[in-house]
Amino acid sequence: MPGQIRGKCRISVFVSGTGTNLQALMDYQQLHPDWPAEIVLVVSDKPRCQAVDRARRAGIPVFANEVKAYPDKAAYEADILRALQEYDVALIVLAGYMRLVGPTLLNAYRNRILNIHPSLLPAFPGRTAVRDALAANVSETGVTVHYVDEGIDTGPIVAQRVVPVEPGMTEADLLERVHAVEHELYPATIAQVIMDRQM
Ligand code: GAR
Repeated sequence: MPGQIRGKCRISVFVSGTGTNLQALMDYQQLHPDWPAEIVLVVSDKPRCQAVDRARRAGIPVFANEVKAYPDKAAYEADILRALQEYDVALIVLAGYMRLVGPTLLNAYRNRILNIHPSLLPAFPGRTAVRDALAANVSETGVTVHYVDEGIDTGPIVAQRVVPVEPGMTEADLLERVHAVEHELYPATIAQVIMDRQM
């Protein structure tokens, strides 16, 4: 209906580490009331990680349990799924969630899980993409946002940004550049996906 105000797309951010991307998304949400997403739940497989602290400080509900607290990964993901349904989550965004998403979540959220990765995929998948790009002596690397499928950092690409690698850069230097690009690209790409798909 013309002029109708759409509801926000309820998203869950999955984290395992420092949570700078989560922080960027929370900050973006604060600063841009017209952002079409609302972070309603943070999910973590590492209950004591910095990202969980950031979510708690921001007052966002948190599901934080280790996989080893469950009989198997399917049971762990079934419990996450219960929380996602409780919070009526429409879209999952992985932000440094260092675990392969299994069939329980993939089937329930098919084509509704995004990931951000610190390279120009398909180059340098895996956990050490920034270090691997430096070791390979490439002149540019970057950031990719893609839909999640069964593979490690595979799945249809939604957006990419190039980050130049300058001579003499350390891993910390490059990581800082890559993170700065991630923190801009992810909120913008999430908004684009939600608008394009009218989620
Ligand atoms: C980010 O650089 C993200 O791209 C990467 O983990 C980092 C998490 O940082 N993800 C992957 O490598 C996925 N394979 P953060 O916890 O500070 O947001």
